[in-house]
Amino acid sequence: MQILGIDVGGSGIKAALVETADGSLLTERIRIETPRPATPQSVGKALQGLVRQMDWKGPVGLGFPAAIQHGIARTAANIDKSFIGLPVADYFSEQTGCEVYAANDADAAGLAEMHFGAGQGVPGVVLIVTIGTGLGTALFTDGHLLPNAELGHVLLDNGREAERYASEAVRVAKKLKWKEWGKRLDHCLETLERLHWPDLMVLGGGVSKKLEKFAPMISVRTPVVAAKFLNQAGVVGAALFAESRIRRSG
Ligand code: BGC
Repeated sequence: MQILGIDVGGSGIKAALVETADGSLLTERIRIETPRPATPQSVGKALQGLVRQMDWKGPVGLGFPAAIQHGIARTAANIDKSFIGLPVADYFSEQTGCEVYAANDADAAGLAEMHFGAGQGVPGVVLIVTIGTGLGTALFTDGHLLPNAELGHVLLDNGREAERYASEAVRVAKKLKWKEWGKRLDHCLETLERLHWPDLMVLGGGVSKKLEKFAPMISVRTPVVAAKFLNQAGVVGAALFAESRIRRSG
């Protein structure tokens, strides 16, 4: 199936047409800045513009940076609070004129990695951690997703919220050296390890390209690998999510 995958992040919105049979991109990936403030109106306009630019009228898979329960946003850590309670899938369907299927952005990235990437065929528990403006997480057991694992908001034993301690946004804002930031990330991963005992951790987001810079600081016993789709996992996974919903509704 060909589906437009859109990944709404705290700082950028990325889109590409995806072939869901193999997760390949059929067009160049487009990136625009996430509007500030990121309200339903401003994000809706941005998505409308993207869909028009790509001349797309088919289904859209949307990865969105919030817990998404049956199409409804339940949280809003890095977007405007007015998203909370909004049926985002229906709202963006209206705004774009396309059928939109929405999932949490980290869950979407995880789907791409489990289908065609670093988690493909991995049995047991796989934890995906996407590192960006926020710290997104997705949990899979034997390839099945447990949706909306909001583990980026876990409190560490130093009293800090994981996301506010070790996200990419924090690394940049505080100008942390890779070593310093790597230690912080390790602290988060260690906490998640103790909570979920995963068999594999997959790190996604922009910094996954730089894993070798902070790998020496990672001390968890779980094997840690970079996402195969790096920063594109969200776009590909959003399309895969939409495909699964379309097939389910028959
Ligand atoms: C949000 C998650 C999201 C993550 C990455 C967090 O602040 O609560 O829903 O997956 O950021 O965007």
